[in-house]
Amino acid sequence: MALFGKKDNKEAAKSISELKNFPQHVGFIMDGNGRWAKKRGLPRTFGHREGAKNFRKIVRYCKDIGLKNISFYAFSTENWQRPKEEVDTIMGLFSDYLDDVQELLTEKTRMVFLGDKTIFPDYIRAKMEKVEAETACYSDMILMLAVNYGGRDEIAHSARILAQQVKDGVLSPEDITEDSISEHLYTSGYPDVDLVIRPSGELRLSNFLIWQCAYAEYYFTDILWPDFSPEELDKALIDFDSRHRRFGGV
Ligand code: FPP
Repeated sequence: MALFGKKDNKEAAKSISELKNFPQHVGFIMDGNGRWAKKRGLPRTFGHREGAKNFRKIVRYCKDIGLKNISFYAFSTENWQRPKEEVDTIMGLFSDYLDDVQELLTEKTRMVFLGDKTIFPDYIRAKMEKVEAETACYSDMILMLAVNYGGRDEIAHSARILAQQVKDGVLSPEDITEDSISEHLYTSGYPDVDLVIRPSGELRLSNFLIWQCAYAEYYFTDILWPDFSPEELDKALIDFDSRHRRFGGV
C-alpha cells in the first residue's frame, strides 16, 4: 500500500466506527481498470466489467459503515474519445446498473447523476431520470455518479445559468458569490468533498469535482480499482482521521 503523506498505517485494524473524523463526502476516482485487464492478458473491457462489479461492492460497504455522501467518477467528458468498443462496454455496464434500481430502493439510497445528461441516447437518459425520480425520497445515503462529467464544464454550466439571470435582470453581478456558483453545480445541496480516493498510482484529480474538492484531503494507492477492497477503504478512512485540516486557518 502506498499512503500519501503518511509513513505507515499500523492502526489498520482499528474499528472504523471509532473514528473521530468521519468524512461527510468521499469521492472515488475509479482508475486502473485497463491496466488490471492488461496485466492478465485480457481486453480492457474485462477490466471495466470487474470495475463495475467492484463499484457495486464498494457502494454496499459505504452504506454498511454509514457514509452519507459518496461520489464516483465513472465517465468523463473526454472518455468519449476512447475506442467505440470500450465506450459501448462502459455504457452497457452503466445501463445494466440502472436496471438494478431495486437495490438502491431497499438501501434507502438516493441516486444523483453529475454531468450533462443530454448527450446520452434516449433509452439511457430515460433510465437515469427514472432512477433519480424513484430514489428522490431517500436520504440515508446519497450516491452521486459522475457520467459525461467534467469539473470545468460544470463550473461553465453554472456560470451560464448565472449570466442568463443577469441578462434577464433578476441578478446583479455583485450578487454572484461562491454560494450562488455552488447552487448551480450538479452537487447543489450536498456537502463538499472531504476525502478523494484515487487508486492506480496516479497522483492527480483529472477534472473531478474540482470546485467541491477545494479543501479535500487526498488518498492515493497503487492498487488498481477492480482490486480496491473494503479493507483498503478502511485504511483510507483511518488515514483521513489522522489528518489535521485547517481550511486556510492555523
Ligand atoms: C478508468 O480506468 C475508468 C474508466 C474511464 C471507466 C470506469 C467505469 C467503470 C468502473 C464501470 C462503470 C459502470 C458503472 C456501473 C458505474 P482506465 O480505463 O483509464 O484504466 P487505465 O488507466 O488502467 O487504462
